[in-house]
Amino acid sequence: MIEVRDLTKKYGDRVAVDSISFSVKQGEILGFLGQNGAGKTTTMKILTCFMSASSGTASVAGFDVFEHPFEVKKKIGYLPETPPVYPELLVEEYLSFVSDLRGIPRDQKRKKMDAVLERCQIGDVRGRLIGNLSKGYKQRVGLAQALIHDPEVLILDEPTVGLDPKQVSEARNLIKAMRSERTVIYSTHILSEVAATCDRIIIIDRGKIVAQEAITSLGVTGATTKTEIVVQRMDDAVVNALKGVRGVKSVQPFENGNKRLIVESESSEAVMSDISQAVVGQKAGLIRMSPVQLALEEYYLDLIRGKRGEV
Ligand SMILES: Nc1ncnc2c1ncn2[C@@H]1O[C@H](COP(=O)(O)OP(=O)(O)OP(=O)(O)O)[C@@H](O)[C@H]1O
Ligand SMILES: [Mg+2]
Repeated sequence: MIEVRDLTKKYGDRVAVDSISFSVKQGEILGFLGQNGAGKTTTMKILTCFMSASSGTASVAGFDVFEHPFEVKKKIGYLPETPPVYPELLVEEYLSFVSDLRGIPRDQKRKKMDAVLERCQIGDVRGRLIGNLSKGYKQRVGLAQALIHDPEVLILDEPTVGLDPKQVSEARNLIKAMRSERTVIYSTHILSEVAATCDRIIIIDRGKIVAQEAITSLGVTGATTKTEIVVQRMDDAVVNALKGVRGVKSVQPFENGNKRLIVESESSEAVMSDISQAVVGQKAGLIRMSPVQLALEEYYLDLIRGKRGEV
């Protein structure tokens, strides 16, 4: 549904997006993660035809964003970083204006407007001036604007910023409900949010993609994995035996009386097998050996750290 190839954007000498390539399948929800200034907004602006690229190609639903911007804009609903709302209009006036811009036929307008008012839970403020609404409500009006024409593709730039926890949860549910119905790309800084809503994440750092992963594969990342080992009898001999296994990178120190260890190692089957043998060889009474889900946050920081060689 979305294809991006070697996309680069320079602002003068500054490279904001550096030759990135990715694709998004129909019905997929993609989380776009990265620190401030990573290039998320720039990429989204190019995909939504708000900005040209310096080089590379991008297409949405088979239409090139540079050659067929009108076709692309029809397919896309876009919520920019700052909601594109007019403070001097009432919510309903604004949505009516957006419907006209989107070319929604007169006889369907009322129905479409009611549907987004309901979906974004802004029915109760439909008659209020946008300028007087709270930040979270303005954000929801922005979301309604992006949804009004039932777009196949939604591009949302930090849609949950400024929402209170209840609204965040509602916005997440709204996005989740679109799974398989629409294709969604959205950016956020909140790691738990991508874990909860996305099928896949792309992590971007200083204009480059540093990881593309399915959420389900985040337990084992890169070359290392963490394994929890629970034994009946723990002592220094067990720890030393584990440290001696080839491929083991670290064994977390254990407190006296604690019969649980975390071992970080290469993730190959051979190393796993050697780890279990080392424990069994010590007659420690192996009770459990299971992979530790590497927290998304840890994974993310590891990646950025790896790239920067600091932090
Ligand atoms: N109009 C512009 N002129 C010059 N540089 C710009 C412009 N817009 C963005 N940049 C630079 O491009 C880089 C990427 O910015 P971008 O807004 O895409 O990042 P982002 O990932 O969306 O960050 P944030 O999380 O803060 O929203 C940054 O270094 C930024 O300073
Ligand atoms: Mg941004």
